[in-house]
Amino acid sequence: MKHYITTPIYYVNDKPHIGHATTTIIADALARYHRLRGASVFFLTGTDEHGVKIAEAAKKAGEEPGLFVAKTAEAFQKAWDELDIRPDGFIRTTDPKHEAFVQQFLQSLYAAGHIYKGKYRGWYCVGCEEFKTETQIGPEHSCPLHLTPLQELEEDAYMFRLSHFQDQIMELVTSDTLAIRPLSRKNEVLSFLREGLRDVAISRRQVRWGIPLPWDSDHTVYVWIDALLNYLSAADPEGPTFPSQCKPEFPPSIQYLAKDILRFHAVIWPALLLARDLPLPKELFILGYLTVEGQKMSKSLGNVIAPQELIVRYGRDAARYMLFAAAPLGADGDVSWERFDALYTTDLANGIGNTVHRFQSMLQRYRNGKVPQSEIDDLGKSQLVAAPFASLLDETRQVIDRLNSYIDEHQPWQLAKSDRPEDQSQLDRVLVTLAEHIYCLGFALAPLLPSASARILSLFGASLAHVQYGTLGQEAPTQARVIEPIDALFPRLETVA
Ligand code: MSP
Repeated sequence: MKHYITTPIYYVNDKPHIGHATTTIIADALARYHRLRGASVFFLTGTDEHGVKIAEAAKKAGEEPGLFVAKTAEAFQKAWDELDIRPDGFIRTTDPKHEAFVQQFLQSLYAAGHIYKGKYRGWYCVGCEEFKTETQIGPEHSCPLHLTPLQELEEDAYMFRLSHFQDQIMELVTSDTLAIRPLSRKNEVLSFLREGLRDVAISRRQVRWGIPLPWDSDHTVYVWIDALLNYLSAADPEGPTFPSQCKPEFPPSIQYLAKDILRFHAVIWPALLLARDLPLPKELFILGYLTVEGQKMSKSLGNVIAPQELIVRYGRDAARYMLFAAAPLGADGDVSWERFDALYTTDLANGIGNTVHRFQSMLQRYRNGKVPQSEIDDLGKSQLVAAPFASLLDETRQVIDRLNSYIDEHQPWQLAKSDRPEDQSQLDRVLVTLAEHIYCLGFALAPLLPSASARILSLFGASLAHVQYGTLGQEAPTQARVIEPIDALFPRLETVA
């Protein structure tokens, strides 16, 4: 099975913050999760570089838009690299191949009669790059998300017959042919569809920083249409190429995005595909927000944390882990330094880090570093290895808790003092049980903690490359091995700060 995994493409009006990073890390972790299980994966992310919002940001920075977007796109790539996020493709909408693809796609919709010339009147938010519907307008014609005044616009525009696809999309969403998850978001889309769809503008007349419409160069392509088509142009033989030269196989198996851009992805995107008889994505997974004191983290609200700040304080793997764990998948999560510190301490320093440390020092002390051979107790080893992606975090937390209770319950330090053979074989059993579970943790945590996982496996002279996923639940890879002790995986914060 091929997995094509996407994130939204991020606006380059400013540098990335940890809200963007969360989505990208979730997608990266899923990509790694599938790769570890031998599946073929294409993980795509990128940057959304056209439109008024970007042009205004470039102007404010006193820079020519082309240079400005190149710089910011690079800042995104650098941030992902620093977080050990490894996409297979990074798409930029100013890539000439993407631009050509968008023109050709729209030309074909125009030729097939899906586009007509009209007039658009409505309230526009530049922050969202969106015409708001009646129910989306805040007090005194403000944007409820950006808390800024909306602009009332009336302009000639080319319109896409979105209304034409209402029943079809309703059917596809209802039947989960296009699965929208969590279910609350599916219901939100269905009720939006029931309100009735209006045709949408696919062009803007006054906007110069965009892709010209091939049949009328007075217009540029509305930035959202340009942006949504990235998922398709990345897969087109003539579309952008990526360093590896490979292409994703359309359609996406899962697309991650946050709730603010649900309608674009659940309605306009499928309609564009249906208009060309193309297959729809299998699943849209809608994430919540990282919030600060209940407010969405965003540059315009001035409450952002940069990914680099987390890396400096906690290290790269820990930063990944905490962004993954900051909110349950699909829900909001409120963040603060206090919460990050607490999460680091509980899950990483005292959790996985201390468990590994306890194990290796006991093994040194009681068995000269050699893992004994024995039957083991099952504290969830096979469930851990087989855990679905969505329960990875819970499963690993549970296993770590169980390992620590198990140590406390069996008191290896007492067993070690005893001369009774049954106590010594019980000690063997405890140590092997720990070794086998820690080995499996090394594998299971690899999507979230790639470096720490490699170090855990290196204890046993193993590496991710030669872990055999298929046999991991049954075989005993650690028995009779001499371990090579490692330094603290997650030093306590006092020593980090
Ligand atoms: N450019 C559009 C998307 C086009 S996709 C065809 C856009 N860009 S964005 O830069 O505003 O970021 C969108 C995505 O970033 C959100 O959908 C979400 O995945 C992520 N996040 C941005 N801020 C976030 C939080 N505060 N919290 C969690 N995710 C956030 O919209």
